[in-house]
Order: sequence, then C-alpha cells, then structure tokens
Amino acid sequence: MLKYINETYIFVSKFENDMSNILNNNNTPPIHTNNLHPVLDGEKPQLYIETYGCQMNVNDSEVVIRLMQENGYSYTEDISSADVILVNTCSIRDNAEQRVWGRLEQFKQLKKKRNDLLVGIIGCMAERLKEKLLEESKLVDIVIGPDAYRDLPKLVMEAKGGQQGINVMLSREETYAEISPVRLDKNGVSAFVSIMRGCNNMCSYCVVPYTRGGERSRDPESILNEVQELINNGYKEVTLLGQNVDSYDWIDPNNEKNKISFASLLERVAQLDRKMRVRFATSHPKDMSDEVLHIMAMYSNICNSIHLPAQSGSSRMLKLMNRGYDRDWYMGRIEAIKRILPDCAISTDIIAGFCSETEEDHKETLLLMQEVGFDYAFMFKYSERPNTKAARKFEDDVDDKEKTKRLNEIIELQGELSLESKAKDIGNIYEVLIEGVSKRSDKDLFGRTSQNKVVVFPRKHYKIGDYVYVKINKHTSATLIGEIED
Ligand code: SAH
Ligand code: SF4
Ligand code: F3S
Repeated sequence: MLKYINETYIFVSKFENDMSNILNNNNTPPIHTNNLHPVLDGEKPQLYIETYGCQMNVNDSEVVIRLMQENGYSYTEDISSADVILVNTCSIRDNAEQRVWGRLEQFKQLKKKRNDLLVGIIGCMAERLKEKLLEESKLVDIVIGPDAYRDLPKLVMEAKGGQQGINVMLSREETYAEISPVRLDKNGVSAFVSIMRGCNNMCSYCVVPYTRGGERSRDPESILNEVQELINNGYKEVTLLGQNVDSYDWIDPNNEKNKISFASLLERVAQLDRKMRVRFATSHPKDMSDEVLHIMAMYSNICNSIHLPAQSGSSRMLKLMNRGYDRDWYMGRIEAIKRILPDCAISTDIIAGFCSETEEDHKETLLLMQEVGFDYAFMFKYSERPNTKAARKFEDDVDDKEKTKRLNEIIELQGELSLESKAKDIGNIYEVLIEGVSKRSDKDLFGRTSQNKVVVFPRKHYKIGDYVYVKINKHTSATLIGEIED
C-alpha cells in the first residue's frame, strides 16, 4: 500500500498493487469485507480521495471518509464519477509537494468538463501553504489542515454554494478519538490505528511539527475500543501510529496520577487477542525504553520489528539535526534490541547531504549502517523545508550532485545489507500472516513474517487472513520464497 518511490513515499490510492489481482481473478480466495469498509452507494454524492505521505495520512483519510460518509457522501475509487476530489498531501520533502502540484494540473481538465466538481487540499501541504493554495491555484475550492477535518462537511457545503473555504487551525486536543475510520485496506487483514498526533521534537530539518502541531496522546480507552472493533471484524494485524510512539503519555483528565505510557498501552493492546498481531511506528532512538523491548519479548503477537530512524551516523550531524542523541547512544539502543529481542528486525531512515555534511560524516553513516546491519531502510536526499530551523540557521551547502552520490552509496550498501538479512533466513521456518495473492502468479500467496519481511509461497488450500508456517528456501532481491509446512 505504501510505496517509497524515488526517495519519497507515496500511497497508491487505487490499490494498483497486489489487491487488484484479487479483484480481477476468479480463482483467488474471496476478499474479506466487513462493515468497516466503505459503503458504496451510487445514488449519493461521490467522494474521491487520493493520499500522499505517511501512514498517518492514510489513517487520516480513513477518518475523513467516515466524516463525509456520516454527512451523506459515498466513497468512490473512480475519479471520473467524483463530485468532490480530496488530495491528502505531504510536505516532508519538496518532491512530495511537486507531485501534488502536478496532480492539480491534471485535475484542471476534469474541472473543465464539470464545473460543479469540487477540489479540496487537505493534510500537511494545506497546513504549510494555507491561503497560498487558494491564491496560487484557481482550481482549489477547499483547504483544510490535519486538525480541522471535522469542519470538512460544512466547508464542502459552502463551497457548493460558490464560497471558497479554509480552516488550518491546529489544535492541542484533537485526536479524532471517537471517530471509527472507514477502512481503505482491501483484504480485511491489516489496519492502522493512530495513538497520538503531532510532534514536539523539532528536528531541525523537519516540517512535521509545523504541519501537524504539538504532540498529544489519544485516550487509551478509545484506542482499545478501536482495536477491539477490528478484532470483531476479523482483522489480524494492527499498526499503532505516531511520529514518536515512545513518547505516548496519556494523563487521565480526572485523575492526574492515572498515567499510561507507551509500554503499558502496547501491553494492553497485545492482551486483547493473542491472535492479533501488533506493530507500531515510529520509534525514536532518544525515547525508546528497555521497558518497551521487554513487553515485546513477553508477547509473541507483538511483532519483532522496530523502525528506529538513525538519520545519520555522525554525532556532529545528529547534533545539528537536533535529534537528542549521538552515535553512541544510538548504538546503545541497537545493543539493547539485540540483547532483549535477538530475532528482531531493525529498519531505519537515513538522510544524505544534510547541511555541512562532510565526506567523513557520510562515511560514519555508512559505517553505522554496516555495524547495525539494518534489514531495510528508507533513504532520502536532504530537502530544505522553508521556515524550519535548518532553513533559517544553516546553509543547504552540499551540492545536489554530491547528495545524489552519497545517497547512491547509501542505497547500494543497504541493498547488500538487505540481501544478507534475507540470506540469513534461508532454511528457517517463520509464522506468516497471509495478506494477499502474489502479483506474479495466482497460484502463490504472500504474507509477512513477524520481522516484516514479505514471503511468497504456493497457496495450497490456504486463504487471506490465515496464519501459516513457511519454510524459507530462497530469496529474490525483494522477497523471501518458501513453502508452507502443514
Ligand atoms: N517521526 C519520524 C519520521 C517522520 S518523517 C521520526 O522522527 O523518525 C519520515 C522520514 O523522512 C524521517 O525519518 C527523515 O528521514 C525524512 N525526512 C524528514 N524531513 C526531511 C527533509 N527535510 N529532507 C529529507 N528527508 C527528510
Ligand atoms: Fe520530524 Fe523529528 Fe518529529 Fe520525526 S521526531 S516527525 S523527524 S520533528
Ligand atoms: Fe508527510 Fe505530513 Fe506525514 S509531512 S510524512 S504527511 S506527517
């Protein structure tokens, strides 16, 4: 669902990946559908939504669909039948924004054909650019930031009457706690649950604190209720989402002594159903506690996979990035993971060519990657974001050619590390949750191990949503290949 393409990550809203195979193939197992999925009703006004950026944006789109569904709209995946097009946007790097501008150009043609078609920009770009979006693109009717989605039905209504609408107020409280997202996944197996919003970290390169506001934790009861609802509807895997899940900290408004940390939230979620896999993202090296690792070790349904963005291997860079840890601290956290959870996969994010980065700093990043042996990584060229601390105080002085060269070295090294990580799995047997039918052959299914590695195997009589034990026989550059052990 989430694809990292050309060092930006983008969500493909039309599910043109594995899921379309399921839809087009009569021999494939039936899709689980449940009453959390969109109710399609051609009689009602149609809402089409396209989502870019991170998993939080995907989950926000699901909240937005619920809000619009409650106000008389029906969701559609067919843009040509849309009455309202919403684009849920990302500002993390310049190319993420450029992609949306390109898309808006394409919508112009649609608007020419239908002048009652409404276009709304929601999400992080809406928050960053505010009125500018209305001024610069005559095409946009509505602009709504991540904390103002409850206002969406009203603004859509006003836009229908010809009045452009904008609400980019950030909130200290909004968590959409009681809104049950309309699930956009196609298989009824995996779902996202947001446990917090915003970020307080102020990494110097990052736009998120400006586009999503301050950090706030969602009421744990509403989180547990949402996960229970997923369990009741047959889901088998939940991913708890936050920009820094380790700083989840809920304080009972009626009794300040009653506090819940991420470790205890994780444990409560895991206890709901031992057959429900629990994942989470993103962990922050400065806050990730041994307590969380011990909880992971205690519950086999909490997946052995941690995404721990390093960003750089150079302590000097980490200080300039305001990450709140240095290289030794990061390696200490890796050591703790390997000690407490020997089977845990570790993945990361790396930024190449941040302000003043030297060849030595870059080498330290490569060395850190080798020392850790990451199972996979998301790797990016530094992209200056207006008004961040880095944009205001530091010079973006590594030239683009050099950034590209360093990024390529990082990608090449990670390619080798990922292959090594897969090679180590050969001969082992893993529990795999089946998520879909292989793109290559409808005789094969695919799923993931607890370590988040994709495995393809002959389907036998199994179906999507089943747990199976798979023996790994070989691997390609992207996937493990194996056979079910009955
Ligand atoms: N909250 C998460 C990550 C959110 S953004 C965390 O702190 O780890 C996802 C990734 O995008 C970051 O980890 C970082 O590697 C990258 N990123 C953020 N801002 C960037 C920028 N200005 N240029 C390039 N990459 C950036
Ligand atoms: Fe951005 Fe840092 Fe917050 Fe992650 S922790 S969202 S990188 S400011
Ligand atoms: Fe992008 Fe906003 Fe997520 S900037 S990465 S969509 S929080």
